[in-house]
Amino acid sequence: MSKMNRTKVVDVLQCQDFGTIVNVKGWVRTHRSSKAVDFIALNDGSTIKNVQIVVDPSKFDENLLKQITTGSCISVIGELVESQGAGQTSEIQCQELEVYGLCGNDYPMQKKGQSFEYMRQYAHMRLRTNTFGAVMRIRHNMAIAIHQYFHEHGFFYFHTPIITASDCEGAGEMFQVTTQNLYDLKKDEEGKIKYDDDFFGKMTSLTVSGQLEGELGATALGQIYTFGPTFRAENSNTPRHLAEFWMIEPEVAFIGLDELMDLEEDFIKHCVKWALEHCKDDLEFLNKMIDKTLIARLESVIKEDFVRLPYTEGIKILEEAVANGHKFEFPVSWGMDLASEHERYLVEHHFKKPVIMINYPKDIKAFYMKMNEDGKTVQGTDVLFPQIGEIIGGSVREENYDKLMGEINRRNIPMKDMWWYLDTRKYGTCPHGGFGLGFERLILFVTGMANIRDVIPFPRTPNNAEF
Ligand code: 4AD
Ligand code: MG
Repeated sequence: MSKMNRTKVVDVLQCQDFGTIVNVKGWVRTHRSSKAVDFIALNDGSTIKNVQIVVDPSKFDENLLKQITTGSCISVIGELVESQGAGQTSEIQCQELEVYGLCGNDYPMQKKGQSFEYMRQYAHMRLRTNTFGAVMRIRHNMAIAIHQYFHEHGFFYFHTPIITASDCEGAGEMFQVTTQNLYDLKKDEEGKIKYDDDFFGKMTSLTVSGQLEGELGATALGQIYTFGPTFRAENSNTPRHLAEFWMIEPEVAFIGLDELMDLEEDFIKHCVKWALEHCKDDLEFLNKMIDKTLIARLESVIKEDFVRLPYTEGIKILEEAVANGHKFEFPVSWGMDLASEHERYLVEHHFKKPVIMINYPKDIKAFYMKMNEDGKTVQGTDVLFPQIGEIIGGSVREENYDKLMGEINRRNIPMKDMWWYLDTRKYGTCPHGGFGLGFERLILFVTGMANIRDVIPFPRTPNNAEF
């Protein structure tokens, strides 16, 4: 085979220079053959679209051609010509063909229309399908959109530790990190594990949130954001939960509740707009194959003002629904944590647009949230989205040392692990706040996919750590 530089399919399809010779490399999506001509649809992952390779079978080894089936990897040199057929504007007249790797008919991604459950068992191969290619390209674009947004708005990308000794959310859902021999654990006289001998000399875990360290960054640099992996050992087998997910956590000094909500709304709209502008082909594919209302939903979210709803008013709406005969599985009363059915009622049924819920009862939220003057509610904000439920959780932080200490004591949070956090309130404390966006929940919304396991390459969930 002649030596040539490879052109990506995405670039070939945009090229109007008919008559030029190009080299494309990729994986065969389909191969149709007849006596007079063979058509190979080739994809290299650079775009959802395939380039059509036209092969004159009389010029190539018949046996070799026969073996080039779906999934095979090939390199083709040929002339770029205007296409006569429907469905594409250009195609490649094959002059030279090299096979990198044939693909047996036990290839797990062979057939069309396989279920997502089936494909999850082959997460290492499902990346080569149209749907997962589209989702992964959108995922990449969303990461770029996020960095772009914060960079343009003067936030600094701040790297918080993954191994930590504190439980930010206080829910005890942490994965421990240890080098101890678990079969021969050292214990003290009371039978408690002796962490003195462990790697860090204390109990450590994978982080559930970078927020606490993010606050240290924000109260020095003014505004920061984190974007990193997050771990939760919550045993919830739902289409919205992962044990390992990515979170984006901006933290801002001198921000109040209203500005915080403005930031949440503006940020999400920026991401959705970015997807509409930069992921057109992939969104059109998903709109056709996965969810016919996807693009319309994305367009409507960027146009609408999000509803801003105090928790207490939300409860009233739910109570009225119950009074009017609506049946919820879980009873509604002030003080309860909203279940997904309640969130969906408010967002999809009542308001029919995204809702930012604020001022939650303090006992259903984390210790660090700023107390309102009523002494009962805190300045927490959750952004609730259609189909997704909670996409963002955030708050204004309690910046008053005594009030924060009061809450830490009331909840029996071990003080000695928190001394560095409390120092921000001791030395030049300032009002501040921030939020966490679940990256995969954003990707769910933007792609229209239904299960969070299908928007991350290799999902980690209870009983699943394959690949
Ligand atoms: O509401 P959460 O627990 O808030 C925090 O962690 C705060 N420290 C954030 C902050 O204020 N800086 O989590 C934030 C978001 C949720 O709204 C949700 O989108 C996502 O993280 N999330 C999950 N995503 C996938 N799987 C899980 N198990 C998730 N748990 C939370
Ligand atoms: Mg939350």
